[in-house]
Amino acid sequence: MFGALKPQPADKILKLMQAFREDPRGDKIDLGVGVYRNAEGVTPVMRAVKEAEKQLWELETTKAYTGLVGDPGYQQAMADLVIADTVDRDRVAAAHTPGGTGAIRQSLELIRMAAPKATVWLSAPTWPNHPSILKYLKMPMAEYRYFDKTSCTVDFEGMMADLEKVKPGDVVLLHGCCHNPTGANLRGPEWEQVADLLLEKDAIPFVDIAYQGFGDGLRDDAAGVRLLASRMPEMLIAASCSKNFGIYRERTGIVLAIAPDAKTRDVTQGNLAYLNRQNFSFPPDHGARLVTMILTNEALRREWKDELEKVRRGMLELRMQLAEALRDMTGSDRFGFIADHRGMFSMLGATPEQVEKMRADSGIYMVGDSRINIAGLNSNTVPKLAEAMVKAGV
Ligand code: LMR
Repeated sequence: MFGALKPQPADKILKLMQAFREDPRGDKIDLGVGVYRNAEGVTPVMRAVKEAEKQLWELETTKAYTGLVGDPGYQQAMADLVIADTVDRDRVAAAHTPGGTGAIRQSLELIRMAAPKATVWLSAPTWPNHPSILKYLKMPMAEYRYFDKTSCTVDFEGMMADLEKVKPGDVVLLHGCCHNPTGANLRGPEWEQVADLLLEKDAIPFVDIAYQGFGDGLRDDAAGVRLLASRMPEMLIAASCSKNFGIYRERTGIVLAIAPDAKTRDVTQGNLAYLNRQNFSFPPDHGARLVTMILTNEALRREWKDELEKVRRGMLELRMQLAEALRDMTGSDRFGFIADHRGMFSMLGATPEQVEKMRADSGIYMVGDSRINIAGLNSNTVPKLAEAMVKAGV
């Protein structure tokens, strides 16, 4: 049986992690996978998470199953965090999933059950796992322009022109904030225009929000998703707690499906429960429990928000430093976009050859499309990256 299997293409981000591990150079720099690291290169357990874990150890009396779609307290806390009071909760179905990827997978399966012919539109470029899961599920997909590689900003005109081709019932996948891989994001009025267009086209937005709190802050990062939630009759949201709670390995995510009315919501909720049951049955509880404790306890929440804000400001500071180092070295403002981008990533606009040169000559690892993880830098390595970029002719 197994002899019939064909090798599968390796995910480019995971392949890069492996290559970095195998590089013996002591001064190598990992700007690959999207995991936050502090100035010492450590991915810390956040203080509020540690504290919640301590409390949980004392309080938890059973490891019996929770609900098939997770704990209602978690669903409510996450809906509060992501969509706040923008939509009546009797229209919102929710399912706790293993991580943000689990939420994307369940959302796509829900789309496939409801509308197998709907095309799912992806930004070009997008997180590689989006097209990969769609391809695995054999679902129709298409791309819309998103990023101008010369200016390294959003190609909003191109995006809107491509979205003109969206058919009624199609699904448009948008990054809620901190676009992965580019770091270039829609501004407030642009979200309005996207909402207008999707309403006109009778299309459904599907927002992937995995970095809330990493860009302009918890509330501002949710502005786009909240605007859509307040205006669209139907919508899907896949949210992740991996990054903003630093609980990557706890696999904590959620699907929020906004239905046009309470009756449709109930059926949608049942379908989400069915999908969880088919794919993994009960979701893992630990991470979600911590998130719920943090979000619903004033002291823990304050602690978490403080630390998250520090993380966000640290990344912003590194952006400024890198843009400034490049301005000094090149005498031009052409890399000013790095300071304007938000979140963990920036796409530098380098060619694959230039990316390879930076890896070979300077031991700097970034994704082949020139995505860097800003949090992989610190004040000492910023000048090294700037020098390598100039040397490679970026
Ligand atoms: C990334 O884009 O690097 C992260 O979302 C991690 C992953 O699973 O790819």
